[in-house]
Amino acid sequence: MPRSQSKKHAPRKVVVTAGPTRERIDPVRYLSNDSSGLMGFEIARAAAESGDKVILIAGPVNQETPAGVTRIDVESARDMLKAVKNALFGTEARLKGSFGKAGADALFMAAAVGDWRPKRRLSGKWRAKDDGNEVASLELVRNPDILATVGRRKGSRLVVGFALETGSGLKRALAKLNRKGADFIVLNGETALGATRTTVTILGKDGSKDCVQNRTKREVARLLVRLDHTNS
Ligand code: CTP
Repeated sequence: MPRSQSKKHAPRKVVVTAGPTRERIDPVRYLSNDSSGLMGFEIARAAAESGDKVILIAGPVNQETPAGVTRIDVESARDMLKAVKNALFGTEARLKGSFGKAGADALFMAAAVGDWRPKRRLSGKWRAKDDGNEVASLELVRNPDILATVGRRKGSRLVVGFALETGSGLKRALAKLNRKGADFIVLNGETALGATRTTVTILGKDGSKDCVQNRTKREVARLLVRLDHTNS
């Protein structure tokens, strides 16, 4: 077992994000990605099965909510940021999807958050063809980085991020670990998208590096919910 994991943990309040975000262009079109949400849903399931209270913040996915998990559906990255802040820090503690003012103990940021959104969301359909154009362009603006935003003020909370990289990606993932203020980054390759099995490398800010090969996402999720940054 990796050095950064303890055998058992006391019940915690855990926030998990899952799935893609969807950034609207107009009422019928959007920008999104291929995330199935499976990894995040398996983490939520594993955490609930180990006795944690779980809020699962999900983008548009076709997954069943695991038993005992409170699910909050969101669409855009900005909606997801609001929901994460509320669950993790209790910013609007009276609303559904909050653990109250004290917030949560841990965040698993498994969602594939869109980095960009259209600058303008049109109220009617985008009519780019109307003037006979063969080329159209869409102006995009940066979305907030949810992990980096909450990582900065997480205090003693456990924060676990993900990185999907082509090639080895180790250097980029390590840079992300530092830049985003996470305790661990789970590095996986593009073959993880939509698959039930995956190979991941779990990088800790303490310098730990654990490679977990060809396991189901359910098995990986069970390992991830045992990560502990306080005894590493
Ligand atoms: N993330 C986030 N907010 C964003 C983008 C990403 O919280 N706007 C989180 C993801 O949930 C994940 C980690 O940051 O935990 C992945 O970061 P990153 O690799 O930067 O996102 P990608 O878009 O996958 O990678 P890249 O920018 O390198 O293409």
